Amino acid sequence: MLLLLVVLTTSVAAEELENPYTGGIDVRMGQRFFLSKCTSCHGVDAKGGVEADGPDLTTGSFRHATTDAGLFRVIRDGIEGTSMRGLRREKEQVIWQLVTYLRTLSDRVDVDSLPGSPKVGRQVFGRLDCGRCHMVDGRGGRLGPDLSRVGERRGPNELAEDLTEPSAEVAPRWWTVRVNRADGTVVEGLRMGEDTFNLRIMDGEERLRSFAKAGLRSVERILESTMPAEPLSDDERDDLVAYLASLRGSES
Ligand code: HEC
Ligand code: HEC
Repeated sequence: MLLLLVVLTTSVAAEELENPYTGGIDVRMGQRFFLSKCTSCHGVDAKGGVEADGPDLTTGSFRHATTDAGLFRVIRDGIEGTSMRGLRREKEQVIWQLVTYLRTLSDRVDVDSLPGSPKVGRQVFGRLDCGRCHMVDGRGGRLGPDLSRVGERRGPNELAEDLTEPSAEVAPRWWTVRVNRADGTVVEGLRMGEDTFNLRIMDGEERLRSFAKAGLRSVERILESTMPAEPLSDDERDDLVAYLASLRGSES
């Protein structure tokens, strides 16, 4: 297992967090900003510029980012050596709202056009017990992200990557830590939060546990995702992707 010794800090840089602005109003604000600042290169429908060279942003996956935090960075910092300039002067909120808006565009990925079957995918999801860690429509575990609307957040290519390379990009919310206590015992779990004195984790049984930092020998971050990389057949992967892509909140 891959291990790295880290000193955990109390604050995580803003851009490492999950998108805090994902409501309906944020979609509209993001769209408004997009229409005023981005269409000259990406087109009014965001499908790519006619005269300019901005790429299609509606395909459901991005070349330069896979997570929301990654998209945030692309929009804030721009892409070096291209006409895509960053928005360093804008408020973080505006950039997150753009991310939210761009994510809704991939809604247009038509589930029927995918090679897999959502219906079969739902069965595979049950058979592989993915619900042990993931909630869908209020049912399931809390050891991984809620997938009820994952089809809005992630495009088909990203979903396929989530399944085959779960450790590629793990958001800090899902970092696992190994706590080495002064008495020699070891506890592993998801890092839920910390302050100057205490570290809180959720262990594999979903129990919340708090440790006084003074009583710890060390804390290691486990870089690998707790999400197992299942050996999936091509069909199973396609079906799971179609099922996950179909999870879009109320529409599903
Ligand atoms: C002057 C032209 C121009 C403007 C204006 C512009 N872009 Fe871009 N954008 C580009 C180009 C060109 C690329 C592709 C760069 C590359 O990969 O070679 C790009 C790439 C991107 C990407 C990454 C796409 C991918 O597949 O990873 C995102 C996201 C993006 N732009 C969002 C925006 C947003 C949001 C705005 C408005 C705030 C905006 N762009 C304004 C030209 C522009
Ligand atoms: C032991 C717990 C566990 C099991 C079992 C598990 N996952 Fe995960 N999964 C996670 C964690 C933790 C993450 C977040 C970290 C990461 O991206 O790897 C995650 C991430 C994901 C994501 C990305 C979600 C997002 O919002 O970006 C998808 C999709 C996913 N899992 C699907 C599945 C499917 C399908 C199965 C069954 C084959 C499964 N998971 C089984 C723990 C699990």
